[in-house]
Amino acid sequence: MWFEPFKIKSVEPVFFTTKKERKKILQKAGYNLFKIPSHKITIDLLTDSGTNAMSEHQWAKILEADESYAGAESFERFLESVKEFTGMPYVLPVHQGRGAERIIAEYFSKKLKNFIVPSNTHFDTTKANLQYKGAKTLDLVIPEALDPDTYYPFKGNMNTENLKRLLKKNYKKIPAVFMVLTNNSMAGQPVSLENVKKTKEICDEFNIPLWLDISRIAENAYFIKKREGKKKSVKKIIREILSYADACYMSAKKDGIANIGGFIALRDKKLYEELSMLLILWEGFPTYGGLSGRDLEAVAQGLKEVVDEKYLEYRINQVKFLGEEIEKRGVPVYKPFGGHAVYVLAERAFPHIKREYFPGHVFVIALYLEGGIRTVEIGSLMHGEDAHFEFVRYAIPRRVYTESHLRYVAEVSGEVIKNKKMWKGVKIVKESPYLRHFTAEFRLL
Ligand code: F0G
Repeated sequence: MWFEPFKIKSVEPVFFTTKKERKKILQKAGYNLFKIPSHKITIDLLTDSGTNAMSEHQWAKILEADESYAGAESFERFLESVKEFTGMPYVLPVHQGRGAERIIAEYFSKKLKNFIVPSNTHFDTTKANLQYKGAKTLDLVIPEALDPDTYYPFKGNMNTENLKRLLKKNYKKIPAVFMVLTNNSMAGQPVSLENVKKTKEICDEFNIPLWLDISRIAENAYFIKKREGKKKSVKKIIREILSYADACYMSAKKDGIANIGGFIALRDKKLYEELSMLLILWEGFPTYGGLSGRDLEAVAQGLKEVVDEKYLEYRINQVKFLGEEIEKRGVPVYKPFGGHAVYVLAERAFPHIKREYFPGHVFVIALYLEGGIRTVEIGSLMHGEDAHFEFVRYAIPRRVYTESHLRYVAEVSGEVIKNKKMWKGVKIVKESPYLRHFTAEFRLL
């Protein structure tokens, strides 16, 4: 038996619109849901990033924050908390995940020309930052991940055979191997402890550092605990995962349960010093890195709360609940369910819409029109030819929505399936060369 392990102290209104209004809103936004004001959204599942509800302890810490430019006490507390969480001694705060990605990509590009960065599956901003600095990015997924129906406990894993083959041939061009836990672009699937260990062994053979993107590592560690039947605490599992990494970074907007923030954590002092220079150039002084003291406090506290296993039990089960409710209503979903989101298989939901007409994005539009729900496409609109699936991601903000909100989402999803024949596809009428899904505009077919 699980339920929300919190009581509600402060509330925000939910906004309602009519279908007629939503039709107009969609037209005005060029059918891009990033362009719809939040007060025109009823349930917002666009992202779990920065949309978390903070605890009373986080708000209390915010009042105590020290806003000094250098050497703030809030940074001391942040540093202690990140060290405790990661076990890594050197920490650079950044304003969010891509602040870290920019610094890391710049650093690699100075070391190597025409470099390659493999990953289990790069997230879009990671890929874009690396490519912007001239890298070739590779997603080394395992075959089990490409089957959305069969249960496999760690579909987020790195394909270690392919990695080994790649490193043998190209090790001189590879500044680092990346792993994302959980694997956001691969349906939020977890990575096993064994797989991180094996990846590290391969990296060691070629003397290449292993970097982990730990934005959702607490959710990943909870899956390890349950699926590998570990007795250890989630906190210890996180430390064990990180013991195989040379470096890591986190967008604290996810498992930091904060609204902004992130960090890079390292073992190597020299690397810390080199990256600090870029940090000062772009993010800020190394004791705040683009964050206010308040933000540092919120993350410091959030990292302590996210390892609470009652919280994680609720979190993982909430996603599963939504997935099962959606599936019951005839919506095809990727299985097993991931850590932060349910991923709908849009090509099955809308089999009459070809990839070139973006079935995932059409599903996103349909969900909004039907019930004011905002989700996001993670398919060929976001990832171009790298997309393995045409996903529609229903990401659940942490500690924000209740079971009844999610039941409503499932009911609306069922309606979208019933009315699928009304949709024919979309065409892009405006797009940018990088991260086009954020700003593109569309025309309905
Ligand atoms: N890494 C992963 C795995 C992510 O999911 C994200 C962001 C980032 C890095 C970048 O972090 O947003 O703080 O700059 N993911 C959000 C999402 C945007 O909706 O999945 P950021």
